[in-house]
Amino acid sequence: MTYNEIRKAFLDYFESHGHKIVPSASLIPNDPTLLFTVAGMVPWKGILQGVEPAFAPRVADVQKCIRAGGKHNDLEDVGFDGRHHTFFEMMGNWSFGDYFKEEAIAMSWELLTKVFGLDPNRIIVTTHVSDDEATAIWKKVAGKDAIRLGDKDNWWSAGDTGPCGPCTEMHYDLGPDVPGGLPGSADEGDRYFEIWNDVFMQFDRDANGNLTPLPKQNVDTGSGLERVASILQGKTDNYDTDVFVALKNAVSDVTGVRESKDNVTSFKVITDHLRAVGFAIADGVIPSNSDRGYVIRRILRRAMRHGQMLGHRGALLSKLYPALVTTMGDAYPELAREEKRVVEIIENEENSFADMLQNGMKLLDAELPKVNNAILPGDVAFKLFDTYGFPLDLTQMILRDKNIAVDVAGFEKCMAEQKERSRADTKGTRTLWESQSLSATDDSSKYAPDAQLQSKVLAILRNGEFVDSANAGDEVEVALDKTNFYGTQGGQVGDAGTILRDGAPVMNVAEAARVDGVVIHKGTLVADIAIGDTVTTQINESMRQQTARAHTATHLLQAALQQVLNDAVEQRGSKVSPDSVRFDFSYGRAMTAEEKQAVEDLVNKWIAADMPVKHEEMSLEEAKARGAMALFSEKYGDTVKVITAGDVSCELCGGTHIYHTGEIIKAKVNKEKSISSGIRRITMSVGTLAE
Ligand code: ALA
Repeated sequence: MTYNEIRKAFLDYFESHGHKIVPSASLIPNDPTLLFTVAGMVPWKGILQGVEPAFAPRVADVQKCIRAGGKHNDLEDVGFDGRHHTFFEMMGNWSFGDYFKEEAIAMSWELLTKVFGLDPNRIIVTTHVSDDEATAIWKKVAGKDAIRLGDKDNWWSAGDTGPCGPCTEMHYDLGPDVPGGLPGSADEGDRYFEIWNDVFMQFDRDANGNLTPLPKQNVDTGSGLERVASILQGKTDNYDTDVFVALKNAVSDVTGVRESKDNVTSFKVITDHLRAVGFAIADGVIPSNSDRGYVIRRILRRAMRHGQMLGHRGALLSKLYPALVTTMGDAYPELAREEKRVVEIIENEENSFADMLQNGMKLLDAELPKVNNAILPGDVAFKLFDTYGFPLDLTQMILRDKNIAVDVAGFEKCMAEQKERSRADTKGTRTLWESQSLSATDDSSKYAPDAQLQSKVLAILRNGEFVDSANAGDEVEVALDKTNFYGTQGGQVGDAGTILRDGAPVMNVAEAARVDGVVIHKGTLVADIAIGDTVTTQINESMRQQTARAHTATHLLQAALQQVLNDAVEQRGSKVSPDSVRFDFSYGRAMTAEEKQAVEDLVNKWIAADMPVKHEEMSLEEAKARGAMALFSEKYGDTVKVITAGDVSCELCGGTHIYHTGEIIKAKVNKEKSISSGIRRITMSVGTLAE
């Protein structure tokens, strides 16, 4: 039976036994404790825990899964045997408080032996040592004596907390020619391998490890499609089944190399990783430097290394993706639907790593002769990571063949040192200010810059030291109790201006920054100053106007990008300066010249329409109800400011803005480029600069 036939037989069987058949859920789980969907039950966790209602008492599906990080991680094993995958398909059936052990076991047994036609004598079953009930059912239903094992083998949970319970596993016997002992024996080998796991979800485990019985008794089962396919197709290696043979042929077509006993690992790694990377990106993962994005980036880079071992140079998975669509697209229509976007993302990612891979390998080859005691120094692994983008596990994988390990502690030390350095560089005097624990500056007048404030000097920082007073000519940073300066925040650069005492300038402020709510005025003293002085603050109004019109223009730019490209464009960062805008957003490819022009035209149309810009304060609830756009990653207070430009843009925003779009005068889109995979940067000038 082919994969398509097996999926159908499985689902048909459970449908005929009263199960609702549902499509696979996304690989990105709606669950902060997991990076990926690691099992068929992940989408049903809430139902199993009894906190969500069940939409049907019996459900079955074939679920896309990735096990490549966290508690369930098979990445390191891929390629070295015929059974491990990062991406795989899990067939499963569930009872949400409906049937329990007896019916679950009976259906598993009937499907395996009658529908799939497996020889009953070659099926070995295990149960949990505590589970007399399941053990007796096996005897009754199949005449089988279960092997009884402990928690390691026969207790299942998705994460450290959540629903869990004892399970019964079914193993298939490949016969005496294959070395290996029975499940639970010291040398398990390959002879008996697990094909199905029925978990009896009876408990919920809390963070302290305590088990509480669940309100309902549930069944959660999982059967690896790749393994079942290998038996039904008479193979001892999952990678010899129809889906993988088709994908391996594509690897040969793209690389010009045929599979042989010397390169079989590379063929396995590449085909496995193609599935993981392709399916994950189709589901919305973007390669990046953190979380699941980094897992996918690492997997992609490992695949490229194996391409290089086959003598291939440059992009590989992006060229193979069409074969994945051909092979698995019938079962997973999203593969074809997302093809253009996925190929673009993979291609970008591969192109940016291709040269680094070549150069990093040169460095590694030069370092290998110097290796002592089969350990690569941590600083070399760090250089590979920092300069050439080699994730640590890629370096380890490359050296595994040569029996060389990496000094991981040394690597981590270099990492920590670099973090410390970059913290010191980018934060400048930030940590010094943080150590002062001043209370937040009252900057409520920042939106009313003409307000006449009497402020007090609270702290003066000069040459890295806090001082009581400072003199004309000194470069200083000053904190006041009140100010109308806007301190750099939310991408908008801070105001410049002057601090005065008795009407005479004391300090030229080049920029106001913000550290934990404290506004820091940075600049040069033109007269002496001391703590306790009473001063007034005066911002540079023309610069404020230029910044405000650039900020409103940024909102129009985002609205225009969403109209011209698509609604899914999301802000990823921005820098708003006087008359200039830099805006980072999520998008998988470069904009065409026509698209850039269309965006610019749209923004200019809105400027010409001279739409009113409303500045309002309201509750977060109300802002949400209005559909105001917000940055997902940002934290907002209970009361928020909402900026609405005509009927084209409504955004939560704490920045300063103009009151009519006509004040922007003109907009001009300059450059558009990639800054990392899936993230673009566009720059635009406005006002007199654009003119
Ligand atoms: N959730 C169980 C497993 O993944 C069925 O093995």
